[in-house]
Amino acid sequence: MNPVATTEPRERLPLRPASDGPPRQGSTMTIPDEQDRKSEHSAAAGGERPRASSGRKSLSIRDVSMVFTRAEHSVHALDHIDIDIEEGQFISVVGPSGCGKSTLLKLVAGLRPPTGGEIEILGEKVKGPRSDVGIVFQSPVLLPWRTVLQNVMLPIEVLRLDHSAYKAKARELLDLVGLGGFEKAYPQELSGGMQQRAAIARALVYDAPILMMDEPFGALDAMTREQMNVEVQQIWERSGKTVVFITHSIPEAVFLADRVIVMSPRPGRVLRDLHINMPRPRGLDDMLTPEFGEHVREIRGMLGKADAAGGRDDRQTNW
Ligand SMILES: Nc1ncnc2c1ncn2[C@@H]1O[C@H](COP(=O)(O)OP(=O)(O)OP(=O)(O)O)[C@@H](O)[C@H]1O
Ligand SMILES: [Mg+2]
Repeated sequence: MNPVATTEPRERLPLRPASDGPPRQGSTMTIPDEQDRKSEHSAAAGGERPRASSGRKSLSIRDVSMVFTRAEHSVHALDHIDIDIEEGQFISVVGPSGCGKSTLLKLVAGLRPPTGGEIEILGEKVKGPRSDVGIVFQSPVLLPWRTVLQNVMLPIEVLRLDHSAYKAKARELLDLVGLGGFEKAYPQELSGGMQQRAAIARALVYDAPILMMDEPFGALDAMTREQMNVEVQQIWERSGKTVVFITHSIPEAVFLADRVIVMSPRPGRVLRDLHINMPRPRGLDDMLTPEFGEHVREIRGMLGKADAAGGRDDRQTNW
């Protein structure tokens, strides 16, 4: 049985940053207390949605450029990117293959420094890897010698958090992403899509206030992908997280986002920052509305024009 097959709100997952503020560089994290969980759940059960945005700046990407250089060869991946994201916003990023989307994610997570500009998280300059950014990479990168549950628990060990406090949550997350019963399996025993779902559970396990997802559903079949979109929306609604979601699917980008950032072919620039004001929570039927279709057409048109002007890279975008 696949537990992601429901679109009903799930009440058992406390997915919210600790109430005493998000952890910073090098700091540890705590799980929400029981009162937080109760109020979270009653809001979810009553269909009441926490504010999408607190108005406080979560992420600030200022004039960021990235040039990769090796020997005489250089690749200009990103060019003068400016994006401000408020706490609790859901941002989708779309753009042609090779335009620098994954590079941008790695810069924000502090995995490498930009060659120009700077990035701030909650007002603090990013200088190295951050514990307040959860990442789902484009490929799942699970450790082959660890079971699925041990892989999901990895951030808890790295951050030296209380193992026993998070284990039940790790199991609930595995259930949520449809991997209940696979806790003791090893990554090589899972399909590509199942590995990616394990990586999603790992990114969610420690309640980082910012979640960056790089084409997390690319390996999933169409139906599971739609269900995961609904699940991600619910997780986001209950958690108050700031989410940056990279995708090649324009409908997926529009369905999930408060804003869709449309990027040009390499060097990646922001072509458009499109606000999606469709009411929430959104259901799959909302994809049939004229407003939804209009947004999809607009983005497709923009990407098509950019492609005609600048040439497309090596892989197809699903538009
Ligand atoms: N570590 C690296 N060293 C050299 N060049 C790199 C490196 N990482 C990325 N690049 C180059 O930067 C450009 C942008 O790559 P990136 O992976 O960010 O693109 P993307 O938009 O995520 O593409 P896709 O949609 O195919 O995942 C590409 O031309 C790539 O070859
Ligand atoms: Mg990429």
